Amino acid sequence: MGVERTFVMVKPDGVARGLVGEVISRFEKKGLRIIALKMLRMSREQAEELYSVHRGKPFYNSLVDFVTSGPVVVMILEGESAIDVVRIMIGPTDGRKAPPGTIRGDFALSIQENIVHASDSPESYKREHVIFFPDVE
Ligand code: CMP
Repeated sequence: MGVERTFVMVKPDGVARGLVGEVISRFEKKGLRIIALKMLRMSREQAEELYSVHRGKPFYNSLVDFVTSGPVVVMILEGESAIDVVRIMIGPTDGRKAPPGTIRGDFALSIQENIVHASDSPESYKREHVIFFPDVE
């Protein structure tokens, strides 16, 4: 593994609920380094690219509507095994099933409005981060 980077997004529900600081704080305390960070309202095109693997699924249109419904905070984090470490810290997709101690387990009760998104593989990281940070390798 070694040191790697991952793409993380605080979704519109996380921003609206005032959880940006809480989420970033958890990653910082874990020892992950913030390489890039910004708040933005994403376009439909950006949302469709971010979630291209889910195109055609029953929840796809609703998901695109949701992530474009308000501002999000996107970031690149770096650290040892960052992709797996962040996935463990955010917990399973469904907030109702995510264990306490994970971000979704502590703050989400929904499968769609689940506070955060994070890359699930190095390939996903490569595809996802350039949508928002085209200048970062
Ligand atoms: P995320 O980890 O960002 O990846 C895809 C997103 O689709 C997921 O989090 C949820 O926000 C959303 N989603 C909505 N319904 C479902 C579902 N039934 N299964 C998986 N993801 C879903």
